Amino acid sequence: SLDLVSPYLYKYKKRSFLVNDKMRPKDLDDLLDFELRPTDVFLVTYPKSGTVWMQQILVQIMDTAHPEQAEGLNNRDRVPWLEERSADNPFRDRPDPRMFGSHLPFEMLPLDIKAKQVKVVYVWRNPKDIVVSSYHFAHSWVLLETPKSFEDFFEQFLDGDVYMGSWFDHVKEYYAQQDQVNIHFVQYENLLKDLRGEVVKLCAFLGKDLTDEAIDRIVDMSTFKSMKNNTTANYKDLIEKGRYKKETMRKGVAGDWKNHFTVAQNERFDRVFKEKMSNVPITCTWEI
Ligand code: A3P
Repeated sequence: SLDLVSPYLYKYKKRSFLVNDKMRPKDLDDLLDFELRPTDVFLVTYPKSGTVWMQQILVQIMDTAHPEQAEGLNNRDRVPWLEERSADNPFRDRPDPRMFGSHLPFEMLPLDIKAKQVKVVYVWRNPKDIVVSSYHFAHSWVLLETPKSFEDFFEQFLDGDVYMGSWFDHVKEYYAQQDQVNIHFVQYENLLKDLRGEVVKLCAFLGKDLTDEAIDRIVDMSTFKSMKNNTTANYKDLIEKGRYKKETMRKGVAGDWKNHFTVAQNERFDRVFKEKMSNVPITCTWEI
């Protein structure tokens, strides 16, 4: 029987997973032994940190065979979700280089990540904006409980009683792996400030030597505006399929929390942040 947090979430290994999803503790455990190839690339994020954005960037850097995205290939199928499928799903049998997406904490990823030094791109974002983005997303994705109020959701977030558990733990655990894992950290706000510069760094990490023109094209194809109109990148099809109620490409800015937090909530958030992240030397960009 599942350790229920709510009718929508269950706890497993201190994280919260979706009751109405197919994954159960046994399936999650099986993922540990999922066999990887040294050429695989993992995109890992805490939810709402810019996953869909990085998918769009990665497919263009890695899959130079399909630069035009004209084949109607959906990014979701090019960077399939590790924990949305059972370990014996055909997504195993894809040509190199395979890409995978995941929100799982490090200790639940396949052991081969470390053993084969598989490349991991970890995108993180200032958690105040994640509260806001998650709050809106909880009104969109049918598998999530609609929050009673922003106040309520804010408290659940600080307690880690939200999908995939605590943001603080997620970031801290990946940060702690940086010397043992082939991991490249990308800050959402740096993508906003200097998309081209971040794409160049990613190419270096991924061992891809692209021309200036190719890089310019990736940047053009990865702006908020361009992705909002690109159905292979923006998940709009999930609205038609009845799984989302609203667009994932919502605002795409840094600092929207200022339109949602009260002064008291902001002070409380700062206190919790300071306490939980006291031994992690990271600096968030709270607004641009
Ligand atoms: P907002 O809800 O704040 O607008 P994820 O893909 O991890 O679910 O994250 C979704 C967030 O990334 C949303 O944030 C979305 O707007 C933002 N996003 C997606 N593509 C983006 C882009 N090209 N530029 C800026 N933000 C983007």
